[in-house]
Amino acid sequence: MPVIAIISQKGGAGKTTLAIHLAAAAQDAGRVALIIDTDPQATASQWAAWRGDAPPEVIDSPPPRLAAKVAAAQSQGAELIVIDTPPHADSAARAAVEVADLVLIPCRPSAFDLSAIQTTAKLVQLLKKPAYVVFTAGNPNAPRVYEEAGELVEGFGTPPCPVQ
Ligand SMILES: Nc1ncnc2c1ncn2[C@@H]1O[C@H](COP(=O)(O)OP(=O)(O)O)[C@@H](O)[C@H]1O
Ligand SMILES: [Mg+2]
Repeated sequence: MPVIAIISQKGGAGKTTLAIHLAAAAQDAGRVALIIDTDPQATASQWAAWRGDAPPEVIDSPPPRLAAKVAAAQSQGAELIVIDTPPHADSAARAAVEVADLVLIPCRPSAFDLSAIQTTAKLVQLLKKPAYVVFTAGNPNAPRVYEEAGELVEGFGTPPCPVQ
């Protein structure tokens, strides 16, 4: 029952988009997926409302309640839990990383965005959690960009995810 935390201190990195796609893909593959929305902006919850609350289910949680909500969802049969987090919120990101088995850090493959993920990379290293940087929203036909961006994030101590 893996718990995946999606974190990035940068707004617009693609956290919510990645969270809802992962959970929806798991649900399509026959798993019971759950999204826990810890962002006060509640974008994932808005998405669930637009879909008439069709699965995957989205519940919200203030960061201090996260561990209890994850435990409750697991005991109720959730097979994949994806935690969406707000930007610029160290405590919310930290709470999500603490309960996660895997951390994904979405990042656009551009200089400003790449530079900004160093803080996020440090947080996952501090808490000793496996993490990957997922490149989002880049030009799909620019292999050199991904190669160089991958080397850079590897240098921050977070390997690039093989899936973009
Ligand atoms: N992989 C992607 N390719 C193209 N656009 C994307 C991608 N991921 C996110 N976006 C767009 O970028 C914007 C911010 O995405 P969002 O998931 O809300 O980021 P965050 O949750 O990190 O603030 C949205 O307009 C979204 O549609
Ligand atoms: Mg978001």
